[in-house]
Amino acid sequence: MHTPELTFSSKYTFKHALKYHDKHRNTLGHRLSNWREQRMAARALALAGDPAIVLDLPCGTGRFWPLLARQEARTILAADNSEAMLSVAREVNPPELLARVKTFPCSAFDIPMEDTSVDLIFCMRLLHHITRPEDRVAMLKEFHRVTRDTVVVSLWVDGNYKALQRRKLEARRTHKTYQNRIVLERAVVEREFADAGFVIASHIDFLKFYAMWRVYVLKKSAP
Ligand SMILES: C[S@@+](CC[C@H](N)C(=O)[O-])C[C@H]1O[C@@H](n2cnc3c(N)ncnc32)[C@H](O)[C@@H]1O
Repeated sequence: MHTPELTFSSKYTFKHALKYHDKHRNTLGHRLSNWREQRMAARALALAGDPAIVLDLPCGTGRFWPLLARQEARTILAADNSEAMLSVAREVNPPELLARVKTFPCSAFDIPMEDTSVDLIFCMRLLHHITRPEDRVAMLKEFHRVTRDTVVVSLWVDGNYKALQRRKLEARRTHKTYQNRIVLERAVVEREFADAGFVIASHIDFLKFYAMWRVYVLKKSAP
């Protein structure tokens, strides 16, 4: 199993986890952006056929649990590398919601589950942190093993105004140190999806030609 050491993975301490939870609600801009992301996720779930067994990985502090729990019969499994994120998730969410979700710690590169044990892996805001192509493909292959049918994944893509701006900013940076987040070329990441055994069923843009966020709905390709 290829389980890389990712610098960004270790930043989610208890303090950072609380900050992350607040981040999506502390300004009007963040609330609007969270609202749009929830809409994109809802559309992706519908495109995925409203799956019955979902693994939310990484779940963070459970930002998408209210959405996932809208389908009453759905089994919601939720995992994250950071015990701090999971513990904040258990503190900030209401008991009736927590009763619907089974949480456990795990790495996205090594999921402690049988092959094809969920209908959908729901992976929001992780892929844009994974800078090495071989790590991305290893993670996607692990998803391919565990899902029976679909993966929903969000990331930053090129081909829009914000990505151009970011490229200019990065070109101006004099100290090229560790990069925490990256914009992926669509052609590159779409080839990586294929390498891991997926076909693209659909995609949803946050705001076409302007914003970098895109959600892909991936289906396992026929063997
Ligand atoms: C930006 S947060 C996104 C959380 C959630 N999906 C959301 O959108 O609110 C990234 C999450 O990835 C988790 N993480 C980092 N490395 C991971 C890994 N190798 N396996 C699983 N989770 C990881 C972090 O602990 C953190 O909770």
